[in-house]
Amino acid sequence: PSTRTRNSFQTAMLRLGGQVIGFDNPMSTSVSKGETLKDTTIIMSGYADIIAMRHPKEGAPLVASRRTTVPIINAGDGGHFHPTQTLTDLLTIKRKKGELGNITLGLCGDLQFGRTVHSLIEAMLRYPNVKFVLISPEELRVPEYIREKLREAGAQWCEVESMEEVMPELDVLYMTRVQRERFFNEEDYVRLKDTYILDMDKLENAKPDLTIMHPLPRVNEISVKVDDDPRACYFEQALCGKHIRMALILDLLGIK
Ligand code: NCD
Repeated sequence: PSTRTRNSFQTAMLRLGGQVIGFDNPMSTSVSKGETLKDTTIIMSGYADIIAMRHPKEGAPLVASRRTTVPIINAGDGGHFHPTQTLTDLLTIKRKKGELGNITLGLCGDLQFGRTVHSLIEAMLRYPNVKFVLISPEELRVPEYIREKLREAGAQWCEVESMEEVMPELDVLYMTRVQRERFFNEEDYVRLKDTYILDMDKLENAKPDLTIMHPLPRVNEISVKVDDDPRACYFEQALCGKHIRMALILDLLGIK
């Protein structure tokens, strides 16, 4: 499933004067007859100059990229990475803060299965003086491979459970939904889904220039009242997705 990623990629290509083919329901393609990822990708790369692929399995776009001559963009692979959401997020932070370094970045919610968080941490590790505040219940902490990257980079980071406790120090707050589709049982999801709900009360001690982000879709984790606060940037963030994907397409096709 995808709203923003698919439509912003399609809009980006159309706005640049290109065209779009593809499918969003594998059951309407030969995948339903048992065609492999390798074969589907080889065929599609004969028809398209560039492929944006969202796939439920971690690593699928990487595997596909080894079989084709056209660029494959990872548009989200399982609970792993979502690099073009990160480009969107970087553009948003740059526009709001003027730079990508020297900030305290709070990431809140499902840090275990939230692929956007994994990609954003990896990218922000490249900028100077970024402090990562990882806010999640114990069961939804970042996976070990992300922890490893934080350690290797010698990053400043901490893990906390309370959002209120760290709110005053944050420059950017990146909210995420609890990823229902990646849970092994519904009971755990129901227990954890409303752990964090950002509302106006919780923002009382926040910085006046806090940037509130969310890759969307939002379920319940940001109260709709927050939408009217000038610190809420998530709809603008989605718009950045169109701009940055236009830039990415031009870059991958070698067009200046
Ligand atoms: C995210 C995703 O698909 O990972 N959405 C998006 O692409 N903007 C976030 C999510 O699904 O929670």
